[in-house]
Amino acid sequence: MNKLKIGQINLKNRLFLAPMVDVTDCAFRLLCREQGASMAYTEMLYTNAILHENKPTLNLMTIGGKLDRPLGLQVTGNNLNEFSKFSKLSVLQNYDLIDINCGCPSVKIVGSEAGSYLLSNPDKIASMIKVLKDTGLTVSAKIRLGYKLNNVMEISRKIEKAGADLLTIHARTSEQKNSEPADWSWISKVKREIGIPIVGNGGVVNGKTASEMLDIAEGAMIASAAIGNPFIFREILRFIRTGKEKEIIKKERVDSFSEYLKLAEKFDVFDISRVKYLGANFLKGFDGASQARSALMPLKDLESINDFVKKI
Ligand SMILES: Cc1cc2nc3c(=O)[nH]c(=O)nc-3n(C[C@H](O)[C@H](O)[C@H](O)COP(=O)(O)O)c2cc1C
Repeated sequence: MNKLKIGQINLKNRLFLAPMVDVTDCAFRLLCREQGASMAYTEMLYTNAILHENKPTLNLMTIGGKLDRPLGLQVTGNNLNEFSKFSKLSVLQNYDLIDINCGCPSVKIVGSEAGSYLLSNPDKIASMIKVLKDTGLTVSAKIRLGYKLNNVMEISRKIEKAGADLLTIHARTSEQKNSEPADWSWISKVKREIGIPIVGNGGVVNGKTASEMLDIAEGAMIASAAIGNPFIFREILRFIRTGKEKEIIKKERVDSFSEYLKLAEKFDVFDISRVKYLGANFLKGFDGASQARSALMPLKDLESINDFVKKI
């Protein structure tokens, strides 16, 4: 597969692990990178929480060593003055790229005029990008097609003009549910209009859909289909090479969950509810998986979960 360059970052392939709240901590990112993801992000964090050095937020900013690269820090916010202060933090230099989340539809985020609400004000997104670019950072934005109305062309043009190095398009509006099909034709339309690399997102779930996305965009970003399934990257790469994918066997799934636990402990990002959520997704697709998931839920600490995993 061709390589891709974003600003000064050289990527080994064009497969991106999406930022995901409660999923993409450094332990999970490392598993996906091992299987072939070339780029990954922190989950979405608030700029003001970073400015106030909020403890859980700082924990979510943990980088998993040399292998956890290149790494994007994904942030959202609503206030330009705050963005300006944020852009000067020295901690930002620890990341390869800063990604502005303009796609989160959650009521809480939208209620504070951040996330996908920003799509209703493309000039504000442009100003946020400029503030970050002025400090010499590599910057991208992750958008949807629009907040209520589809204004993706206007948003994309303004993002390019503001100097962003990359644009990720999740091809749904903020009001569309993930169960509705993403409309990739908009990714093609934007691609024809702007010159910066575009990563397409929404509905990339296997080798076939990844190949189709890579025919339209420079990169393909995978979210839901990677949860508890870091192997998706390996299988997409296999599909691109051979036209085939291999089934993931039970041992791989259980070993991968066990590896996740080790990495979470090593990098001090263990969180019991995240572990259960991820565990329930790792433990799928084999005989006895549903019993294993039920047995995981009452467990209360790392030790008991480690013991349990050894016995699956
Ligand atoms: C559990 C979960 C958490 C998510 N958290 C974020 C996030 O922190 N930042 C973000 O930009 N998008 C987030 N998303 C959206 C995904 O990155 C992605 O845009 C969306 O799920 C569509 O891609 P998919 O069809 O591959 O799932 C999240 C999605 C899921 C399922």
